[in-house]
Amino acid sequence: MKIVIVGASGTMGTYLSKAFEAEHEVVRVDYKEGDVTVDITSPEEIEKMYKQIGAFDALICTAGPTHVGPWNTLDHNTFRKGVEGKMMGQINLVLIGQHYINPKGSFTLITGALTHDPQKNFANASAANSGVEGFVRAAAIELQNGIRINAVSPTVIENSPQYFPYFPGDIPVTMKQLEFGFRKGIFGANTGQIIKPY
Ligand SMILES: NC(=O)c1ccc[n+]([C@@H]2O[C@H](COP(=O)([O-])OP(=O)(O)OC[C@H]3O[C@@H](n4cnc5c(N)ncnc54)[C@H](OP(=O)(O)O)[C@@H]3O)[C@@H](O)[C@H]2O)c1
Repeated sequence: MKIVIVGASGTMGTYLSKAFEAEHEVVRVDYKEGDVTVDITSPEEIEKMYKQIGAFDALICTAGPTHVGPWNTLDHNTFRKGVEGKMMGQINLVLIGQHYINPKGSFTLITGALTHDPQKNFANASAANSGVEGFVRAAAIELQNGIRINAVSPTVIENSPQYFPYFPGDIPVTMKQLEFGFRKGIFGANTGQIIKPY
């Protein structure tokens, strides 16, 4: 299976690329450097990325930039980071990617537990996650040719200890759990689901 990983250089992307490379053809897509690059805030760059990659069977996205910071740093401009990045970036990956993905292919996007379980400093991510999750449910009943779409929604992950203090009481999701959440999205029959890997 040809699997595209957007955000491949990140914490999740690095782990998942390695995990799937053992069994599949993985196309790593990075933000700034690498064989294939994309800025997901740019529809033009997304189109260019798909043209470069050609047909594929699954896309997983672990790129979801948001503004993280105290409430008083949130305004129209800072809030746009999550709206144009994590939300519209991922939505555009699907809206444009549906014309390049093979029949019966799948998209698996990234959201997070902040959708329903907010924490201080992360209002931008909570809002962007909700937009992506609403889109996933709606797109699942519209996409053609057996194409599926899901999102993986972990709480803080074990390879991001810098975030542990912001998620008091949450048991970090292991990288294996995260991997198996994405496995469900790629290899399962489910669509329109928000997969909680814990
Ligand atoms: N880490 C956690 O505990 C956790 C838990 C739940 C949900 N999440 C969500 O999961 C996602 C990934 O988390 P992570 O910890 O793996 O993040 P990360 O380590 O910061 O990695 C993010 C990746 O996305 C890339 N990227 C950033 N802006 C981009 C853009 N405009 N276009 C294309 N690529 C871009 C980054 O490239 P560069 O490295 O070059 O900047 C990097 O490869 C985020 O949306 C986060 O909110 C994370």
